[in-house]
Amino acid sequence: MASLPCLNCYLPFLVACLGICWQVHGGGGGGGTARREVTIPSLLPSDACSSYKDGVSHNETSLRVVHRHGPCSPFDLRHRLSHKQILDQDRSRVDSLHRRVSTAAKPDQQLLDAPAASSIPARNGISLGTGNYVVTVGFGTPKREQTVIFDTGSDVTWIQCQPCVVTCYQQQDPIFDPSKSSTYLNISCSSAYCADVGASACSSSTCVYGVQYGDNSYTVGFYAEDTLCLTPYDVIPNFRFGCGERNEGLFGKAAGLIGLGRDKPSFVSQTYQSSGFRFTPMLSRASLPTFYYLTLTAISVGDQQLMVPPTVFSIAGTIIDSGTVITRLPPTAYSALRSAFRQEMTAYKSAPTLSILDTCYDLSGLDKVTVPSVALHLGGGATIDLEITGILYIASLSQACLAFAANRADTDLGIIGNVQQRGLAVVYDVSKHVIGFGPAGC
Ligand SMILES: *[C@@H]1O[C@H](CO)[C@@H](O)[C@H](O)[C@H]1NC(C)=O
Ligand SMILES: *[C@@H]1O[C@H](CO)[C@@H](O)[C@H](O)[C@H]1NC(C)=O
Repeated sequence: MASLPCLNCYLPFLVACLGICWQVHGGGGGGGTARREVTIPSLLPSDACSSYKDGVSHNETSLRVVHRHGPCSPFDLRHRLSHKQILDQDRSRVDSLHRRVSTAAKPDQQLLDAPAASSIPARNGISLGTGNYVVTVGFGTPKREQTVIFDTGSDVTWIQCQPCVVTCYQQQDPIFDPSKSSTYLNISCSSAYCADVGASACSSSTCVYGVQYGDNSYTVGFYAEDTLCLTPYDVIPNFRFGCGERNEGLFGKAAGLIGLGRDKPSFVSQTYQSSGFRFTPMLSRASLPTFYYLTLTAISVGDQQLMVPPTVFSIAGTIIDSGTVITRLPPTAYSALRSAFRQEMTAYKSAPTLSILDTCYDLSGLDKVTVPSVALHLGGGATIDLEITGILYIASLSQACLAFAANRADTDLGIIGNVQQRGLAVVYDVSKHVIGFGPAGC
């Protein structure tokens, strides 16, 4: 079964294209190639930013996502992080996600000082340490381009706004000035939308929002609405977002963040119209309404399904997260994957470990490398054959590592990270409760 978009149905979803392409097929067995030979130059990241091929229907809401440290990044590449820094930050994000899951039963409200010296409740978010995909969108009329972090792990979209009464961090785009937008409106405290962001503070009857992330980064300001321009033909009037006048933390030089979680304030919940294709059921947990859960049932290496009981994956469940870099597996599943992978890679010289990655090879001096295929089997019969970039994390030719890591215990939440989603159109169909994976066409 190929991933055919259903052009005649109008379902709420969002398509995110993260680079090269994955192949997706439903059910059935094998049929794939057990090993793949790739040339060494094709493993290296391109330093050219290829132009965006718009492969999706305009009835879908889609965003072009580029890597913060990649060739298409609008940010200055001199500030790019090393692979070790990226992976170390990824560890902090996953620790923070795990903490959030283990404390989900407790109330997640925290107090922050408001700009106007009153106290406002803020929603606890998660570490943005590796919120490393960004999108450029236009806010207001006339539209002002703002490059924002793309995060499926939180819900509230916000940008820094003038006047930065207390603090704004440095950003690359000029800071948005709401007084210069003819379509900007403050949301009143009595609006139901104000309740959706969990804010209870008011400033002259304007709703004050606040979000604090797990790494103590935060944003506080007025909850507002204005026109959001994704592409010239994809414009969302009255899009609700935070106009942050007090912002501090690890947001890089981004102008803010676009929240693609599942709760009410999120971009996804606000942009319900489109058509789509579906593959695996989207599950949820009432205590953690933000996360997109799916069912990982098995993993194959070189067409051989690993002998891991499916219950290993179901103990804590699995989420798909755009802000986590490396996929995290229950240790039982990871060690089976690692042994099978190592057996297929005995021809290559091993290399030192890299942060959370413990299975690395030295490929320097080679023209070609043959890597076993790796596939993820999901609930509903969907199988995802990973692209080579989802199997090997190439820090350098002398350090190419298996792009998976183990959680501390089988009881920790599993996470499908963005390295494994690269090249894939990921469809979050909120109305049908399915997550689809398709060739990205970008
Ligand atoms: C978008 O939807 C309209 C109906 O609302 C339809 O007429 C049009 O062909 C669709 N466009 C695409 C590109 O699918
Ligand atoms: C929004 O509310 C703030 C605080 O009350 C106020 O300073 C600002 O002028 C308002 N903006 C608009 C466009 O109403």
